[in-house]
Order: sequence, then C-alpha cells, then structure tokens
Amino acid sequence: MSNNVSLAIPQFGGPEVLTAVNRPIPSPSEEQVLIQVKAAGVNPIDAKTRAGLGWAAEHNQDKLPWVPGYDVAGVVVANGTNESKFDVGDRVAGMIGFPTEGGGYSQYVVADAGLLSTVPPSVPMVDAAALPLAGLTAWQALEHAQLRADDKVLILAGAGGVGHLAVQLAVRTGANVYATASPSNHDFLRQLDAKPVDYHQTHWATAHGEFDVLIDLVGGETGIDALASLRTGGRVVTVPTNTRDMITSAATERGLKATGMLVEPNTWQTQRLLDMLYQGDLRIDIAAVYPLAEAAQAHVALEEGHTRGKRVLEMPSA
Ligand SMILES: NC(=O)c1ccc[n+]([C@@H]2O[C@H](COP(=O)([O-])OP(=O)(O)OC[C@H]3O[C@@H](n4cnc5c(N)ncnc54)[C@H](OP(=O)(O)O)[C@@H]3O)[C@@H](O)[C@H]2O)c1
Repeated sequence: MSNNVSLAIPQFGGPEVLTAVNRPIPSPSEEQVLIQVKAAGVNPIDAKTRAGLGWAAEHNQDKLPWVPGYDVAGVVVANGTNESKFDVGDRVAGMIGFPTEGGGYSQYVVADAGLLSTVPPSVPMVDAAALPLAGLTAWQALEHAQLRADDKVLILAGAGGVGHLAVQLAVRTGANVYATASPSNHDFLRQLDAKPVDYHQTHWATAHGEFDVLIDLVGGETGIDALASLRTGGRVVTVPTNTRDMITSAATERGLKATGMLVEPNTWQTQRLLDMLYQGDLRIDIAAVYPLAEAAQAHVALEEGHTRGKRVLEMPSA
C-alpha cells in the first residue's frame, strides 16, 4: 500500500486543470475506516467546484489543491480503534465529505463508518459508486414534495443522474409520472414507466394538463417556465442551489408551495437504494466509465449537459 493517487484541482479552471497527485495513504481516526476505492461517481457539483463556482469552491479556495468526489464504492482495508460496523474486506459505498470536503477521486480515502452502507453481493462497484448522491437527492426531493400516490408529477431532466432515479422512485409511490427529456431519451423514460415530455417544443410546460408536483432538476429560466405546469397550490421542489431563491420567489408569487433543498447523507436511505439495485427494483444507467486519469473527459461530457444516467471513474489498482 505505497501509492495513493488522487486527482486534484490545483487551481480553478477547465477540465484540464485536474492533475494526478500522489499522497500518503491516510490513517483512519477512531470512528473511521480506510477504504480502497474501486469506483467514484461524478456529479455536476464536482465540475462546478472545479470551475470555481458555488459554495464548495468558495469554501476550498484557500485549500487548493482540492480533491473532488463525494460518491465512493470500495473495500474496507483498515478500521479505526472504535469502529466496529465494518470488517476489513467489506464492500462499502456512500456519500462522503459532503458538501465541502470531497476527496473521492482517490485510490484510498478515510470516511466515517456512519456514512457508509454495505454493497450487496453482485452489485457492481461502478453501480454502487454512481448511486449515493444522486439517489439520495432523488429520494429526498420526493420527500420534500410529499409525493403521494394520487399526485401527477412532472420531473425535469428525467433521464439525468438524479432524474432517472427520481422517476423510478416516483413511479413506485404510485404517482402519475411525466418527465422532460430530449426525444432521444423518450424510449428510455417509457421503459421507466414515465410519460416523456419534449422540452424542446414550445408550450411544453402546459401541453400535458395541470400537475400537482414539479421536481425541478434544471433550475434557471427552465425552472421558471416549468412553474406554469402546476395547478394553483401545487408544490415545487427546486434542486439546483444556484437558482433556488429566484425560483422559490417566483413560485410563491404564483401561489405555489416552493422548497429548495441540499441533499443530506442518510445511510438508511443509501442502504435501501443499494438493496433495491440488488433486488432488481431499481436500475441505474451508467453512461460511461472512465479510468481515473481520464476524469477530465468525464467532466467535459458531463458539462455538455446531456448525460443519460451517471458517469463513473474507476481507480487504478493499488
Ligand atoms: N441541491 C442538491 O443537493 C443537489 C444534489 C444533486 C444535484 N443537484 C443539481 O441538480 C441538477 C441535476 O443533477 P444531475 O446529476 O441529474 O445532472 P445531469 O445528470 O448532468 O443532468 C443531465 C440531464 O439534464 C437534461 N437537461 C439538460 N438541459 C435540460 C433542460 N433545459 N430541460 C430539461 N432537461 C434538461 C438532459 O436531458 P436530455 O439529454 O434528454 O436533453 C440530461 O439527461 C444539477 O444542477 C445538480 O448540480 C443538486
């Protein structure tokens, strides 16, 4: 265990700033485990922070180089002295270091055992690494919306990382689920039992009748336009944090119930999501897997804005 290669941001900028660094393997504190990371999920916040945008960038601007990555799946290789939840050799996954520490784009990380869940047998590490942040966001967005079986819900960006999981969880509640996507993703949405809405068409927000609930995974002007889809008194949860205030204000002015959110770690929910993957009750679509050294390509592709499902990094073996 001599190498611990991470991909760091030495200064904010384009994807090309991501740089390999070799650091000492960290030691777990009392309540932590040391994980040999097998795969790390890529999320839009990683790219935004790399570009110097948002509160994670603000928080870390004096702590560069900073290693991004909140989603990890790997194998426990050492325990802290007070840590008994996991044994060496256990397969674990979780959302770690959120929202400001990150660190997942690494061969080895330490993490609080309380943030980790067990990866069931036969669930690939790539799938487990793709799931936590997006799955928790999807779950918690529907909770904030208090989605019920008799609701008609519109999910924006239904084919994206959060969206395709939110669609499936919403379908499981019994709700009548519609989701926006480009036409190339409409069959994909139908496979998930959602009704596709083409957001490239004019009047897309009002073309399918009135909705009780809007899950906004796009924000900005699209999020504002989508408010027209809701009935009076309808509920909107807007997920992108950078336009949260603008959208909640516009929604409140229209007599809607509006909430912003920041995803929170929740090991019970993460475990349930992993178990659903194992049982075949949830599917996670992997758009592409990249070697750690090619993370810049993952960022370029993510920033094009049309990822279906999730992009994941695979670690070089130690
Ligand atoms: N607040 C929080 O705690 C939190 C947590 C997680 C994510 N987020 C934020 O939530 C957003 C979604 O995250 P994500 O991981 O799901 O992103 P993502 O995977 O990158 O989303 C990609 C999807 O966005 C769709 N899309 C792009 N422009 C669109 C538009 N104008 N209307 C409808 N769909 C559009 C694309 O659909 P097509 O290819 O079909 O066009 C694509 O499938 C991001 O802004 C992210 O930063 C916030």
